[in-house]
Amino acid sequence: MDKLYIHGGKPLQGKVTISGAKNSAVALIPATILADGPTTIENLPGISDVRIFADLLQDLGGKTELNNGEFYVDPRKMKEIPLPNGKVKKLRASYYLMGALLGKFGQACVGLPGGCNLGPRPIDQHIKGFEALGAEVTNDHGAISIVAKELRGARIYLDVVSVGATINIMLAAVRAKGRTIIENAAKEPEIIDVATLLSSMGAKIKGAGTDVIRIEGVDYLKGCRHTIIPDRIETGTFMIASAATRGQVILDNVIPKHMESLMSKLREVGVRIDTKDDQMLVDGSAGEFSSVDIKTLVHPGFPTDLQQPMTTLLTQAKGTSIVTDTIYSARFKHVDELRRMGANIKVEGRSAIIDGSTPLQGTKVTASDLRAGAALVVAGLIANGITEISGVEHIDRGYEYLEAKLKALGAETWRNSDQEPSKIVMLDRY
Ligand code: EPU
Repeated sequence: MDKLYIHGGKPLQGKVTISGAKNSAVALIPATILADGPTTIENLPGISDVRIFADLLQDLGGKTELNNGEFYVDPRKMKEIPLPNGKVKKLRASYYLMGALLGKFGQACVGLPGGCNLGPRPIDQHIKGFEALGAEVTNDHGAISIVAKELRGARIYLDVVSVGATINIMLAAVRAKGRTIIENAAKEPEIIDVATLLSSMGAKIKGAGTDVIRIEGVDYLKGCRHTIIPDRIETGTFMIASAATRGQVILDNVIPKHMESLMSKLREVGVRIDTKDDQMLVDGSAGEFSSVDIKTLVHPGFPTDLQQPMTTLLTQAKGTSIVTDTIYSARFKHVDELRRMGANIKVEGRSAIIDGSTPLQGTKVTASDLRAGAALVVAGLIANGITEISGVEHIDRGYEYLEAKLKALGAETWRNSDQEPSKIVMLDRY
């Protein structure tokens, strides 16, 4: 297994270009199944979750190609085949195959999804949505089987605001007969991105990005060309890393509007941020950092996916900060590792309580999940000495060319293998 090494202590300086959004990509790829012709997605990130998903489309009989970051999918020869095990278990977003296959073929059999272990991650709201659309859902030894004689539009109120359930119901509903209304829908930018792709295919969707989404089902969807939005979590991770190392970094290909909650917390900490169009300057070089309290919320609140790297930054802020995760109760596996590096943190219930500032010391640590990995990378960048991070496969699920980007910003980082997995991933596969 790969290990990532970072010799910390150097402020990040320079310019970094943000890649396409992982959590859009893993929904846009299955959405291409719904079309009756080929679709091209531009700016797909070279991450392992994308590779696995592309393989899954081939398993279903699709033709896929990648040229210069453009992903071409021809779904015309795809068939609905059961996917109870194997690759679907490796990623969380395989649940989008349920909505996409149901919408296209009227049936799907997909193993319960894998992904990061962040505590309980039920999919009851997805299932509630499919059932409301007229499908019969059964759980056969961990594989969810969904069959509909005919999908019919329905009014669906989500009891929990869920990104996955909102997108999955949209995927199934765009080809259902009649009108579907999703109430208490999630409002994340990735939902707008998926709705934009589906609309370019000819779907009739109104209200994506608000808490009520209205969909008129159509019989036919054409292929199209779509450019994926920038990854707001990668953006946030580089913003936090730049600030935490007391660096000055320009981030290119960003949507500042998506970053408002993080920007306001970083400014409270004492970081200077300037934005223009699709660029942002993050300057953490001046003054002492102040403690802040953070509560993760659904969009446009502070994203749970940035809570972990932000915790690392707050070890460098004077005073006590409290970070509360209202979305995932157990997303604190990075805390023990940060403590081993010298941080003064404890977990109480759903909150991490951080007393700062404390210098961090490089040591051997393990990434238990993707964003815990991001938190440890930020810690390695600010620590004295060398940090050795195991569990890098989690990080490779979500960050494209991480070392190359960090090195270009002046960080000293390397792996115990010669090649960068993101590059291997793309070359092997296509
Ligand atoms: N929930 C339910 N029932 C459901 C669905 C969700 O109770 O049927 C609960 C979850 O347990 C959680 C909350 O609702 O407490 C929100 O879950 P949501 O469905 O919104 O999460 P998700 O769609 O499974 C996506 C991202 C996550 C991100 C969350 C929240 C993808 C593939 N994953 O997950 O991203 O944390 O939204 O924004 O889009 C990551 O990128 O590291 C990551 C974990």
